[in-house]
Amino acid sequence: MVAKTAILQQVIEFRDKLFDLQPQIRRTNFSLSKPFRQTETCPILELQNVLVRFNETLALDNISFQLRKGERVALVGPNGAGKSTLFNVIAGILRPTQGQVNLPHALIKDKNEQFAIAYVPQRNQVDWRFPVNAAEVVMMGRVGQLGLFHWPKRKDWDMVYEALELVGMAKLAKRQIGELSGGQQQRVFIARALAQQAELILMDEPLTGLDMQSQEDIFAILEKLRQRQVTVMVATHDLNLAAERFDRLMLLKQRLIGFGTASEVFTTDLLRQAYNGQLRLLETNNGTVVVEDSCCGGGHG
Ligand SMILES: Nc1ncnc2c1ncn2[C@@H]1O[C@H](COP(=O)(O)OP(=O)(O)OP(=O)(O)O)[C@@H](O)[C@H]1O
Ligand SMILES: [Mg+2]
Repeated sequence: MVAKTAILQQVIEFRDKLFDLQPQIRRTNFSLSKPFRQTETCPILELQNVLVRFNETLALDNISFQLRKGERVALVGPNGAGKSTLFNVIAGILRPTQGQVNLPHALIKDKNEQFAIAYVPQRNQVDWRFPVNAAEVVMMGRVGQLGLFHWPKRKDWDMVYEALELVGMAKLAKRQIGELSGGQQQRVFIARALAQQAELILMDEPLTGLDMQSQEDIFAILEKLRQRQVTVMVATHDLNLAAERFDRLMLLKQRLIGFGTASEVFTTDLLRQAYNGQLRLLETNNGTVVVEDSCCGGGHG
């Protein structure tokens, strides 16, 4: 028992070193095999006047919005706009300097139920040389649920393999994480979020560097998540993809410049406010077209 606890402690330290993240876990009854019961559209997260300051840098300024259950939101904005900072605040890793993050306590009927947020970090935040295989990475999603003194049970491994199956990665379960392709690594992280029984998944630039097929694979998984009423927020620099494939777009540059459908948010005026001269915009009869986006690359993490 002592040896097992020591090993589990090591796994947890590994997990924290790997992600340098301590996602806020609030569990709720959730079954991987059953889709969520369809409910009326209701907010699952609310930010009120959130402000984040790092010394002299104002990273987020007076951000307020609500997310609806089951929707797919793209978070866009130039480098340094505050996208990763916003995810850190929502995930509970970073306390805002001012303002509030409200979770749906009103939706939680039983005091044992909790609300789970999963965070798929920006790729440059992960140490890919870390000696764990895909199944172990997914189990790390379960470890947070199990608590320190509980060894994973058969049921937990079943959930891990069910999650890997869902993202099409069961065959590569034993492969070291560093030996997987970028798209496969992203799928493993989504499986980890599923095993964590997350109702809200935050994905920080999951599509960056993936080929078209891998992007399509990720969107096919996001469709499955939608059927389960899992809410997904994805940070991306691909404005066309954001406009085409997401229900709502959030345009950020320290302030929330716009939040709505593509036609509401991708106007010349709002895009100029967010990107200044970094985007080449073309006015057409069908609205504003982004010709060139010179904002991408790098990442503050
Ligand atoms: N831990 C930190 N300490 C000090 N400043 C920080 C810290 N984290 C972020 N910042 C600053 O806050 C601002 C927002 O950074 P953030 O990483 O959230 O931007 P981003 O929109 O995710 O950018 P990218 O598209 O490059 O990933 C930047 O000016 C950044 O330098
Ligand atoms: Mg970022």
